[in-house]
Amino acid sequence: MSHRIGVLLSGRGSNFEALADSIAAGRIPGAEIVLVISNREDALGLQRAAARRIPARVISSKGLQREAYDRLVVSELQRARVELVCLAGFMRLLSPYFVACFPQRILNIHPSLLPSFPGLEAQRQALEYGVKFSGCTVHLVDENLDAGPILAQAIVPVRDDDTDETLSARILAEEHRLYTEAVRLILSGRYRIVGRRVIALANEL
Ligand code: GRF
Repeated sequence: MSHRIGVLLSGRGSNFEALADSIAAGRIPGAEIVLVISNREDALGLQRAAARRIPARVISSKGLQREAYDRLVVSELQRARVELVCLAGFMRLLSPYFVACFPQRILNIHPSLLPSFPGLEAQRQALEYGVKFSGCTVHLVDENLDAGPILAQAIVPVRDDDTDETLSARILAEEHRLYTEAVRLILSGRYRIVGRRVIALANEL
C-alpha cells in the first residue's frame, strides 16, 4: 500500500525536490508525493513539481482568514487522500483546524537546532547570536511556530568566515538528507511519542 504524501511550499522547493528524489531512488519505501500545494503562484517549487509530473496547484491566500484558507487546503489534501503532510518552506502558520485534521501527521523542516532560532531567517539569527554550531530540525507540527515534538536533528559547524549564504548552504545540504530520514521514520511507524520526546525504535534513523 502506498503512503500518500502532500507537500506544501511557498518558494524554491529544494526540500520537496530532495524528497521526490529520495522516493524515486527507493529511499522511502512505499511513499508517493501525490500533491504539491503552493500559496504563491511564482514558487519555483511548482516548476520542479511539473518537471517531475507531480500534480501541483496554487491556492492563493489573498483576502482569506487563516482558517478559511486552511479549509481549502485541507479539502484538497483530503480529496487527494493524503496521509502525511510535509511542509517544505511553507511560509504560513497552520490553524488549529488544519492541525486537528492531520493529528501527528504534519512535518516541518526548520534551518536551526530548535528550540533555538525559530521563525524567519534562522541562519542569520544563528550567525548574529554567535553560536559555534547550528543545524536543522524536522518536527511534528502543532499550531505554534516551529514548536512541535522533534523527530530528527542534524548539526553543522558555524565557521568564522561564514556568511548568511555559506551557512545556509551548509545547513541546506543536511536538510535534504534529514527530511528523508524523518519521513522514512514516520511512515515506518517505528517510533513512540512520550511527552515531547519522539523515541525511534531500534534500527530506525
Ligand atoms: C528551508 O531552509 C527550510 O528549512 C525552511 O525554508 C527553506 C525552504 O527551502 N523551512 P526550499 O524551498 O525547500 O528550498
